[in-house]
Amino acid sequence: MQGMKTRSHLPRLSAHELFKGKLSPDDPRSGRYFSMYSSVLGGIVTDARLMTIPLEDHMVHRGDGVFETMEIHRGKVYQMAAHMDRLGRSAEIAAIEFPMPENEIRDILLETAAAGEAREAICRIFISRGTGGFSVDPRECDQSHLYVMITAPEGPTPSHQLRGMRVITTEIPARAEGMAQLKCCNYMPNALMEREAHLAGVDSAIALDANRFLAEGSNKNVAIVTPTGELKTPTFRHALQGTTLRRVMGLAEGLVEEGLLSGLKQADISRAEAYGASEIMFVATTLKALPIIEFDGHPIGGGEPGPVVRRLREALEQDMRENESLLTPIPYQD
Ligand SMILES: Cc1ncc(COP(=O)(O)O)c(C=O)c1O
Repeated sequence: MQGMKTRSHLPRLSAHELFKGKLSPDDPRSGRYFSMYSSVLGGIVTDARLMTIPLEDHMVHRGDGVFETMEIHRGKVYQMAAHMDRLGRSAEIAAIEFPMPENEIRDILLETAAAGEAREAICRIFISRGTGGFSVDPRECDQSHLYVMITAPEGPTPSHQLRGMRVITTEIPARAEGMAQLKCCNYMPNALMEREAHLAGVDSAIALDANRFLAEGSNKNVAIVTPTGELKTPTFRHALQGTTLRRVMGLAEGLVEEGLLSGLKQADISRAEAYGASEIMFVATTLKALPIIEFDGHPIGGGEPGPVVRRLREALEQDMRENESLLTPIPYQD
């Protein structure tokens, strides 16, 4: 077309050109991505430019894989057994076989974390359907793959922690019964929930089940404190069995003994019940227990974080520091 400039050719890059010199300190990956294991590569890499996954892995182009996110605190992995159990359950639902025995996967995870050297970090572990082509058919993949990624910590912002979150209900439906326990790599509905919340000018969203009861957040469980002081959470029919929520329910028994809570319950929660709650909170690995101070425009607990969420957060932090039965030390070299 007249007047239109022809674009110059894109550069053809050699491996040498891609990897010459060091990763630029301005690169967003710099200082945040500590180490990665890949069964495709057959080892651990610490240069973020090498932390790649083949596009032909069905986990990439179809979301056909399962994963877990764990926290590393003071050089120890918190609740590793619970996360590995859930990874096994997800893999079973997805009919993906582990690429190697589970004890080997645990060793690889710990060795990758050791190579990353960080004492405070997030560990993500992925089991993919495998490489083999670009169709949706799992038969294309001979072998599942394992990826372990160690990155910088990702807690809530200090202001969310202090002042709490403003949250809405999303019309994106919660996961169907039977699929809620599959922690798979297709988080498109979850991503759209977050987008909807941010477009509405709030911090996050909660999905409802088919009967319009509260289910869960995009990557977090929900709990309320009723006006009579009960800590109540939705059933796991449409919500992932959170490792943090399960631990929170254990730790909350102490608050029942103390009299701060009157009891613990798992049952359906309507939006009307939640609007009248004295506290609402999100619970998840990276957030721990985080107050929700507004839900669909209704102020919760007078619009201020309440005492139960604060005590549960403190109890979780103490558990992460001191409960050796839930802490797996990382075999650092030094
Ligand atoms: C959909 C969903 N629900 C709940 C959770 C909270 O689970 P956990 O406490 O194990 O992080 C997560 C996070 O993994 C999640 O992705």
